Amino acid sequence: MERLRERSSEKWREYPADVLPLFVAETDFPLAPEITRVLERAVAIGDTGYIASRTPLPEAYAGFAARRFGWSPDPARMRPTADVSMGIVEILRRVTSPGDRVIVTPPVYPPFYELVAEAGAVVERVPLRDTGSGWELDLEGIGRALDAGARAILLCNPHNPTGTVHTSASLAALAELAASHGAVVVSDEIHAPLAQPGTGFTPFLAVSDTARAVGYAVVSGSKAFNLAGLKCALMVTASEDTTRVVRGLPVEVEWRTGQFGLLAAVAAFSPQSDPWLDGLLATLDENRRLLADLLTARLPAARYRIPDAGYLAWIDLTDLGWGDNPSRRILREARVALHFGPAFGAEGAGHVRLNFGTSPAIITEAIERIAALS
Ligand SMILES: Cc1ncc(COP(=O)(O)O)c(C=O)c1O
Repeated sequence: MERLRERSSEKWREYPADVLPLFVAETDFPLAPEITRVLERAVAIGDTGYIASRTPLPEAYAGFAARRFGWSPDPARMRPTADVSMGIVEILRRVTSPGDRVIVTPPVYPPFYELVAEAGAVVERVPLRDTGSGWELDLEGIGRALDAGARAILLCNPHNPTGTVHTSASLAALAELAASHGAVVVSDEIHAPLAQPGTGFTPFLAVSDTARAVGYAVVSGSKAFNLAGLKCALMVTASEDTTRVVRGLPVEVEWRTGQFGLLAAVAAFSPQSDPWLDGLLATLDENRRLLADLLTARLPAARYRIPDAGYLAWIDLTDLGWGDNPSRRILREARVALHFGPAFGAEGAGHVRLNFGTSPAIITEAIERIAALS
């Protein structure tokens, strides 16, 4: 932990040293060796300029998608940008007119609300449906919102904060709904490399011809490989019309990509990093189960469903009676920083989001501290 506290990014600097930081989506693991290697070499030779107009990133991502998801996107239909948020905003700006409504599916990654506004559009909320054992897209609700004029759906695939891997059938149905209403789907696939084996993750653009006609994906290695500060993402398309939209974005959207981010992303998506990623998924599998065991033993009033993807746990603490925003008391009295549920939408009342992309010791300590309050 002393070594982690030497880090100067948000996770380890936002709170005083006695607080365990399990809030923002950064991980505590060492970098994949291939990433360390290319970054060390870049520093050694002073390779710190602008990204080149032709880079190996699209090919690297196409290879990664083929190996990991059985999907072969065309590198000629991709363009880099600084981060997933920027890709979402710039695409939405192009495919909507000011004041158009964009569907989001709460509880959802809080900046989605701001990204839609930044693009000049207006958020239309269609909450996920709680099936009793998981969550799913409310396709009927989305259909009604489209009937009423919504122009786009901002999809989170897999979903943050619930860790839901949407079924390919629901994604195919979503694509049909969008197509029949002349709407588009922007699929944020930042957590895709972190879908656990066997959960059936499907990239939106791999779902059907209709999905390829109406869809844009924005992808990145930044969550799985902890590269958020290096600034690199990729906008991916798979049809003439959508490719034209992305090609039409100003060159600055591409130029804001970080050179270190690009080098690191190529290394992340290369086959050399596959064993590291497999190891990470195994670690996260153990952590998501450890958390379930700890909650059952120490905080039985908490409700938690093991996520299919990622390192974020969506925990319902309503039954503890700690109010709409239990993270407040947890920070103040247990000295554990969690992300506040209500930030994800009204459905997040009574919830917290816990980042288990860390060591079993830190997860255990955090739950012990919280349990001591109850
Ligand atoms: C679903 C989702 N989208 C986007 C982001 C932010 O990505 P970026 O830093 O590439 O903008 C995050 C960060 O946690 C996220 O969870």
